[in-house]
Amino acid sequence: MILENKHIVLGITGSIAAYKAASLARLFIKAGAEVQIVMTPSGKEFITPVTLSALTGKPVVSEFFTANDGTWHSHVDLGLWADLMIIAPATASTLGKMANGIADNMLITTYLSMKAPVMIAPAMDLDMFAHPSTTRNIEMLKSYGNIIIEPASGELASHIVGKGRMEEPEKIFEYVVSFFEKQQTLSKKKILITAGPTYEKIDPVRFIGNYSSGKMGFALAEECASRGAKVTLIAGPVSLETKSPNIHRIDVESAEEMFEASVEAFPSMDAAILCAAVADYKVKEQAKEKIKRTGDEMNMLLIPNKDIAAQLGQMKNKQLLVGFALETNDEESNAIKKMEKKNLDFIVLNSLNDTGAGFQHDTNKISILSKNGEKEDFPLKSKKEVAFDIINRIFN
Ligand code: PMT
Repeated sequence: MILENKHIVLGITGSIAAYKAASLARLFIKAGAEVQIVMTPSGKEFITPVTLSALTGKPVVSEFFTANDGTWHSHVDLGLWADLMIIAPATASTLGKMANGIADNMLITTYLSMKAPVMIAPAMDLDMFAHPSTTRNIEMLKSYGNIIIEPASGELASHIVGKGRMEEPEKIFEYVVSFFEKQQTLSKKKILITAGPTYEKIDPVRFIGNYSSGKMGFALAEECASRGAKVTLIAGPVSLETKSPNIHRIDVESAEEMFEASVEAFPSMDAAILCAAVADYKVKEQAKEKIKRTGDEMNMLLIPNKDIAAQLGQMKNKQLLVGFALETNDEESNAIKKMEKKNLDFIVLNSLNDTGAGFQHDTNKISILSKNGEKEDFPLKSKKEVAFDIINRIFN
């Protein structure tokens, strides 16, 4: 089932339709999702947290702190935990606060910290829904990428008939299911991803390495896995964890090990995305014992490592091959040269001249260049969002 193990934050606000949120939560739970309810204070006037926590098996979050022991409820953690946030019902007041960033309750702070897609099911009276301020707020929310589940027409709480009723839970549920199904577009694909640095041993205690944290490659692996792909992630030495069961992780240390693992895995893959920062050189002869300090100058003879991307470029049959280029100068022309030399279909360019881009940051700023000569530039975004953009582009 598509919702199995999905993490859904269900936001509930102060509308008469709040009672329908209980049915919605139940549908999600029955489909195998984990649901965390976040309520506004007025939401609790319409449906009790006891009902909702009994349905979801999790305490409802409503306040910033638990009154009796001061435990802080982290909206940031919820933003990272969720695969989807859905606010149903969303009142006119909540829409306005969301659109304008008025973070005066836990639901809005969670929304503002949310890394996952956000769906909003408005519920209000006919005239409130038709008011220009509501229309403007909804347009603003759409412009942020939020998905609006249009209200239905029917008898409203005021007994007036018109548009404003929150869509029925079954319909919202179907909407969510088809949303996740669309995300599963890579379900038949096997994708190889390299990530992180490589360490080239000099002696038993020293190595040649680089600053790659693996964050970009791991974000790509999670993004592909969340769309249903079977991912083989070949990771250099990093301190990151993988979350999705769709990721088969192979830990390596040196460029040679990464090369061997990649070449072995590649023939059965549909695509490879080479995000690792692979050392171009290694020492010709590793010292068996720790090299002692003599105080004299020291020379080390370096020899080139094998180029994984170039090798896969030669082996390529029908696979899509995507490389990265981390540049400090003549960025675009260097990236194009690498794409051609290594027989890549796309190259993702990131430049150390852009603040917040490249190694270690949680953000990146990229351009995607294709072998057909197309180029698309993206603004600075979180690496999770960058991964989303890359996967959309290369599998388009
Ligand atoms: O890990 P993070 O801290 O999140 O940082 C992300 C990143 C900056 C490492 C990533 O976005 C990135 O740019 N990775 C590629 C870095 C790099 O080594 O680029 P390059 O221009 O030297 O290499 C070009 C391409 O050839 C890359 O796809 C690289 O993986 C590949 N290559 C390079 C050398 C080699 N021996 N084998 C390879 O496959």
